[in-house]
Amino acid sequence: MNLDALNKVAEAMVAPGRGILAADESTSTIKKRFDAIGVENTEENRRDYREFMFRAKDAMAAISGVILYDETIWQNAADGTPLVKLIEQAGSIPGIKVDEGTEPLHGSPGDVITKGLDGLSKRLPKYYEQGARFAKWRAVIDIGAGIPSHNAVHANAHALARYAALCQQSQIVPIVEPEVLMDGDHDIARCYEVTTWVLKETFQELYYANVALEGMVLKPNMVIAGKKSPKQASVDEVARETIRCLKNCVPSAVPGIAYLSGGQSDEDATAHLSRMNEIGGFPWKMTFSYGRALQAAPQKAWSGKKDNVPAGQAAFLHRAKMNGLASLGKWTPELEKKAA
Ligand code: 13P
Repeated sequence: MNLDALNKVAEAMVAPGRGILAADESTSTIKKRFDAIGVENTEENRRDYREFMFRAKDAMAAISGVILYDETIWQNAADGTPLVKLIEQAGSIPGIKVDEGTEPLHGSPGDVITKGLDGLSKRLPKYYEQGARFAKWRAVIDIGAGIPSHNAVHANAHALARYAALCQQSQIVPIVEPEVLMDGDHDIARCYEVTTWVLKETFQELYYANVALEGMVLKPNMVIAGKKSPKQASVDEVARETIRCLKNCVPSAVPGIAYLSGGQSDEDATAHLSRMNEIGGFPWKMTFSYGRALQAAPQKAWSGKKDNVPAGQAAFLHRAKMNGLASLGKWTPELEKKAA
């Protein structure tokens, strides 16, 4: 393992003014997104959609890296250019989702465990050869009555650490993503408590697995009230509680934090990130690794029609630009409206 080289990639992934595009929806997840805009979930439509984002030069200026699904990393654009090449030509780094989704965790009703460790050490060098310089593994922790269990927090942290160690062994930067879901009716204090637990456990396991923190990127949820909670927190509260939580849990050797959007509205995800960077006072870069909060608008504008590709690219540019500004703490609601 060449730690300097890993660290360089990790630093580039969180470079100020840029962030990560999570375009790694599995075939069944992208079906949900396509259903919402009336687009058939064919291989060609998936390719066309992703191709137009990777070809959006101005938008890609704010995108440091793209997380791909297995299908996409092997796919060619309509003119035969590998999609990976389009990403590289745009000055971004290709990455790959390597987990295989979740399944119920035996013995802990309501909790899930992420699959995908079997055969991973053999898959990683192939992805490297295909151009991937970082990877992603998502652990999912739900908050509810009696969950998460200790078993779920521990087993998921252990799997994240095993994955991260294997990535570094293959010279691939691991994005370590322990996601505490915001689907419930819990308040922000409960999210703070569970996120703290999950992060502490995750870094303990990363330590036991000899993962070099300088060569990874953390992708956490923000500390935020559940979507169904009647007590929603303000932008400032989310920003301050998230910073406070991470400062208590994340060693400063980690180069950067790239948040998931997790079902926040596009504007909330941007506003929260910008406020955190405005407040500052933490040792890591803080940026975005958004899926839905970057893609909902372009998907709607495109709606599967060739003629709408420029509109889709414009919508993608707007969100990428706004989030790029947020990574510098320079986004404002006025800019959001002006550029729209
Ligand atoms: P969201 O930003 O839509 O949460 O997706 C990010 C991601 O990659 C989840 O694993």
